[in-house]
Amino acid sequence: MRDDAPTDIQSRNDVHSIVDAFYRDIADDPVLGSYFADIDLESHVPKLVDFWTSVVFQSATYRGQPFEAHAALDGLEGRHFRRWLDRFETTVDARFAGTNADRMKQRARQIATIFQSKLGVLDETDVARRFQQRTS
Ligand code: HEM
Repeated sequence: MRDDAPTDIQSRNDVHSIVDAFYRDIADDPVLGSYFADIDLESHVPKLVDFWTSVVFQSATYRGQPFEAHAALDGLEGRHFRRWLDRFETTVDARFAGTNADRMKQRARQIATIFQSKLGVLDETDVARRFQQRTS
């Protein structure tokens, strides 16, 4: 194996590096930017590090109601979630590979599906396409 081959996510610090990179330029994103224009990343990032640390290491550091934050956002559609997931997966894949990285991406897809379903904007063909990608 080459020394610079990606390793798996192993610590809260690793999770922090993903969350940091994911949000760094998000206010400039052409699809998602407007939703993050007024977000205080100083307080948002630690919350998200807790959330993803809980997911990846199956610990209980995050206590919250993640859907509620999204129910309050106007005009969210499937295209926003597709963009969010593409950005998220690219950010993870650029840095890590392995079971924990896979778990993080899989949970993101599941949660995005649940959010879209609750918001009434779930595109069934998109779900089928992603399911096929996972099983083929
Ligand atoms: C269309 C895509 C999305 C947009 C535009 C979006 C936007 C936002 C915004 C604006 C907030 C509130 C930030 C704040 O007030 O501090 C937030 C919070 C959050 N988001 Fe998202 N989000 C999206 C998708 C997702 C997905 C797919 C997940 C999980 C897999 C997620 C996880 C969270 C969590 C955990 C919080 C913190 C909730 C809390 O306050 O405890 N988001 N998001």
